[in-house]
Amino acid sequence: MNEKTGNNEPSRHSPSASRDGEPSIHTSASLHDCKLGRFCEVKERVLMRSSSLGDYSYVERHSELIYTQTGRFCAIAADVRLNALNHPIDRVSQHKFTYRANEYFVGKKLDHGFREQRMEEGRVVLGHDVWIGHGAIVLPGVTIGTGAVVGAGCVVTRNVEPYAIVAGTPARFLRWRFEPDIAHRLLQLAWWNWSHDQLADAVDDMARLDVLAFLDKHDGGIEI
Ligand SMILES: CC(C)(COP(=O)(O)OP(=O)(O)OC[C@H]1O[C@@H](n2cnc3c(N)ncnc32)[C@H](O)[C@@H]1OP(=O)(O)O)[C@@H](O)C(=O)NCCC(=O)NCCS
Repeated sequence: MNEKTGNNEPSRHSPSASRDGEPSIHTSASLHDCKLGRFCEVKERVLMRSSSLGDYSYVERHSELIYTQTGRFCAIAADVRLNALNHPIDRVSQHKFTYRANEYFVGKKLDHGFREQRMEEGRVVLGHDVWIGHGAIVLPGVTIGTGAVVGAGCVVTRNVEPYAIVAGTPARFLRWRFEPDIAHRLLQLAWWNWSHDQLADAVDDMARLDVLAFLDKHDGGIEI
């Protein structure tokens, strides 16, 4: 995974790469303390803070990721909020001046403890091949399993199982994307860890074969 900060590793050209794999970040996006993998894309006016995107993952317009760890091949639609931070509602005031006192008063300091708590306990984690629909909001501390789908406009308050589809507000289980035995085989296969060249060989099968036929062809055929 490459640092976004400009000291990216040299790209490793592959015979099957249609571009060099360097992350693509729109000039209007704002990133701080972030790590982006190969072939990642960050679109217009995206805001990311202390977050990472695994290889091939992309974030569409106006979305925000705060303290969020994202696996490989995740598709994050526009206007999504991954980790809508909570204010300290148990304090006398829940306004930020209690934890960012430095912004208001001479000699006062940032409440580092509160920040650390938000970063660690509140971290949002996405597995691999997760699709987050338009305008979804994921609340702090939620983990979304590999292969899961989050419907448009969801507010996700609880963890989402691998290969589950959730929808609504609060997000509720709608159905499995794939039955558990197929999901299990996909998790074993872990195609998201394949090399770029292996993916180039498999992509036509991914598009044309149904999932069972794909698994039957590729299970055990490729080193996992
Ligand atoms: C979640 C989703 C993938 C489900 O698709 P699906 O399995 O084909 O679901 P269906 O259309 O058969 O709907 C099943 C039920 O869930 C409801 N539902 C579907 N999506 C919903 C959503 N986002 N929020 C609330 N309810 C939803 C439907 O109304 C339907 O309810 P009913 O049975 O009472 O009529 C899809 O609806 C969705 O939200 N896609 C995201 C699209 C998007 O954001 N694209 C952005 C570009 S990347």
